[in-house]
Amino acid sequence: MVIDEKIKTALISEFFTNTGATYNSVVNLFTLGIDHQWKKKIVGHLTAPKRVLDLACGTGILSFMIAQKFPKSQVVAVDVSPGYLEVAWRNAYKKNIKNVSFVLNAAENFTSTERFDVVTASYLAKYAHLDRLIPNLAKMIVSGGTLLFHDFTYPKSKSLQRLFWVYFKIIQVIGGLIYPEWKSVLVKLPDLIRDTAWVSELTKILAKEGFDQIKVESLTLEGSALVSARKK
Ligand SMILES: C[S@@+](CC[C@H](N)C(=O)[O-])C[C@H]1O[C@@H](n2cnc3c(N)ncnc32)[C@H](O)[C@@H]1O
Repeated sequence: MVIDEKIKTALISEFFTNTGATYNSVVNLFTLGIDHQWKKKIVGHLTAPKRVLDLACGTGILSFMIAQKFPKSQVVAVDVSPGYLEVAWRNAYKKNIKNVSFVLNAAENFTSTERFDVVTASYLAKYAHLDRLIPNLAKMIVSGGTLLFHDFTYPKSKSLQRLFWVYFKIIQVIGGLIYPEWKSVLVKLPDLIRDTAWVSELTKILAKEGFDQIKVESLTLEGSALVSARKK
């Protein structure tokens, strides 16, 4: 299902206005640490990139993993939520990371005259307006450059769908008690994951916008997917 632009914009504001301070703990706890494995998988696709664009960087988890693995690379980290970017900026300072710069902007509106070898995005695709985002990115990725988009997916198999709903029921109860600011996110997130068609939408748009070697890797019980592509 293609989710309406206005609904997506409202969800971004509702989900990411007051949750930045606890995001790192929540994502680690509620994915049982698997988020780190997924991010390692993304980083594993990279080979000494010079310039990386990390879209929807949030608190900077992925941006910092890339920056620390490739200290000679320059990472530009973009996010639309000021609260998340502030946490990211502080974390970079604490970790003494110097090769990440931060930009407050919607991914769809970000532009740069300098081009990137790699564009990454973890948990952006289901919120993004891909029909505007991908043509914008196509202008900023070098020929032969790589795009890596990762996000949650709704399992295709019935038994994994049942597990998906049971798991969300559990974390809605526990999460609502420990992290009340996450309550409405945990209630609305599973429906959003079920309704988004980001993988099929993205792969279609990538093919149209001059990308090839488009691959979809399903991860951990069909709970997320990593889409990779090469700019022709
Ligand atoms: C779940 S967090 C993920 C953060 C980070 N990528 C990670 O994996 O830990 C989602 C982030 O996407 C950002 N976001 C959502 N839609 C966006 C858009 N259109 N442009 C830029 N940032 C966006 C939110 O502000 C939030 O910080």
